[in-house]
Amino acid sequence: MAKSRIIIDCDPGVDDAIALLLAFASPDEIEIVGITTVIGNVSLPLTTRNALRIAAMAGRQDIPVCAGCSRPIILPRVQRGASVHGTDGLGDLGMPDATHPAQSRHAVDFIIDTILREPGEITLCPIGPMTNIALALIKEPSITTKIKAIVFMGGAAFSPGNTATDAEFNIWIDPHAAQVVLSSGIPMTMFGLDVTRHATLTKARFDQLERDASPIMRTAIAMMRRYGSGDPALHDPCVTAFLIDPTLFNGVDAVIEVDCDQAGAYGRTRAVENGDGKSQPVHVITEVDDERLFQLIDQRLRLL
Ligand code: RIB
Ligand code: CA
Repeated sequence: MAKSRIIIDCDPGVDDAIALLLAFASPDEIEIVGITTVIGNVSLPLTTRNALRIAAMAGRQDIPVCAGCSRPIILPRVQRGASVHGTDGLGDLGMPDATHPAQSRHAVDFIIDTILREPGEITLCPIGPMTNIALALIKEPSITTKIKAIVFMGGAAFSPGNTATDAEFNIWIDPHAAQVVLSSGIPMTMFGLDVTRHATLTKARFDQLERDASPIMRTAIAMMRRYGSGDPALHDPCVTAFLIDPTLFNGVDAVIEVDCDQAGAYGRTRAVENGDGKSQPVHVITEVDDERLFQLIDQRLRLL
């Protein structure tokens, strides 16, 4: 399978961190052309700080990190209770800060410039709210036909959400952005809660990870233990695992609609028969071989 050349748009976030580490550990399957950050699990300064910290921990200071949007398109970010990601977004472990800076270019401009420079080559992997992706499509519509694919974590097509309005968090933070992206017609693969809630961290799996763990693994395990106490599902790593081994997953095609009604199920996504007749179907992942997925994560993290 040809190597995937990707931009990861993220809101680290512990599961974002594991998704990044999995990608760093898989250079034969994934080339990370850039990391862009967005508000989500924590504020934009913190998601950007965390992306830099994770890249530095893996020795990948060579990968450009560009900060993006600090708020959703329409509604300001709604504060939610104590995050499963901790106050700093990475489990409050006191991880050292990176010594290299983020790039000065805005994430939206980095995405546009990269797609225009390498048409048909780049897969976008949003694993947080889709604000940066939506604004890139709005600012430079010509990239719509030049993006190879979008593989994202977000939404729930056939199952309940994980926020108050039965929405999934990434979409709930910015449903308007999700609507722009989902209606773009770009070839898309969706990792919603339908599948990611089955990527669980069990005690047995923690015990396996602990055996002969490297220093990086020990940090990742400590993050996951803090995170796992609130949400034992590794949502975001499903995206990078798919790029490494798509046979881990199965799915169906469906048109996905987003509820943007503040008085309704704000942020909820649902698969519909044919929707508005305008939106293209999305490939919705519904099944995972979670044991093989975990073995892949364990095997690859040991390479770092
Ligand atoms: O609902 C799970 C998603 O919300 C994950 O991307 C997690 O990092 C949070 O952003
Ligand atoms: Ca995330």
